[in-house]
Amino acid sequence: MMFPEYRARRVRKSEGMRRLVRETSLCVDNLVLPLFTVPGKGVKKPIDSMPGCFHLSADYLVKACREAYDLGIPAVILFGVPDKKDPLATGAYAKDGVVQKAVAEVKAKVPELVVITDVCLCAYMDHGHCGVVEKGVVDNDASLDLLARTAVSHAEAGADVVAPSDMMDGRVAEIREALDDEGLSNTAVLSYAVKYCSAFYGPFRDAAHSAPGFGDRSTYQMDPANSREALREAALDIEEGADILMVKPALPYLDIVRLLADETDLPLAAYNVSGEFSMIHAAARMGWLDLERAMMETLVSIRRAGADMILTYFAVQAAKVLGR
Ligand code: PBG
Repeated sequence: MMFPEYRARRVRKSEGMRRLVRETSLCVDNLVLPLFTVPGKGVKKPIDSMPGCFHLSADYLVKACREAYDLGIPAVILFGVPDKKDPLATGAYAKDGVVQKAVAEVKAKVPELVVITDVCLCAYMDHGHCGVVEKGVVDNDASLDLLARTAVSHAEAGADVVAPSDMMDGRVAEIREALDDEGLSNTAVLSYAVKYCSAFYGPFRDAAHSAPGFGDRSTYQMDPANSREALREAALDIEEGADILMVKPALPYLDIVRLLADETDLPLAAYNVSGEFSMIHAAARMGWLDLERAMMETLVSIRRAGADMILTYFAVQAAKVLGR
């Protein structure tokens, strides 16, 4: 059918028409709010590189969680920012670690909110890498036990979902087995299955104090040039027992989100990471774009690419827009 018989604009002529033919929906159910928690009490410290984000002690964290829950956001993902680091990341799996205490507090006060915990060692390691370093190299197999202990300690504290973000090979199987051995067979694993070695984590590393002290993460995170490799990573994690797969970052990798949506059948998450968030804020501050429109367009595009859920620092602001 050709012009003038077919006029594409007919179905765009009013908001009602546009709603009727809209292919993708974004709703508050799709949003997961990442939050940073620190030791202590009464702490609510702004993170310079991430406007509107804070380091929160458990008391303030609970408030943020309640606000999110009241807005209809189904889940949060917690990142710990400890005050001590060492070569074995002992703080990551300490019973009274910053995340463990925070999870217990949140689950006690806002029990219906799904609590996901990021499982990684980088914020707890003095060298800032995501695994154990031996002779200057990140040792995959030596890291697995520590990651599994971290996941178990989070689940014991009450986490509903553990989310390994370290990119060591075999960690999903190790974590699944450790959880099952401890009677935690109902704790789900959200795997950062396809995590690229990205410049867009910059603001987060400021926030989590987790920048690597030497080198970079290219020996364990994926090469941005690869997409078939994403399928191999996903297949491994499915086989190892992952419940949800994630692609990270989101915007520069929407083709990968679509690929996994088409080729796999687990629920799919995408992480709209700190750099994607902060660059919109920066441009908006310069007066170069409209923050709210850029935010909503970003989120709907990630859904259109095929993500079921989006981890985003915009979650609260987007939930407010969606609730209007
Ligand atoms: C920890 C981790 C990182 C992010 C989530 N978990 C940083 C990294 O891999 O260096 C990034 C999140 C973001 O940028 O918003 N391994």
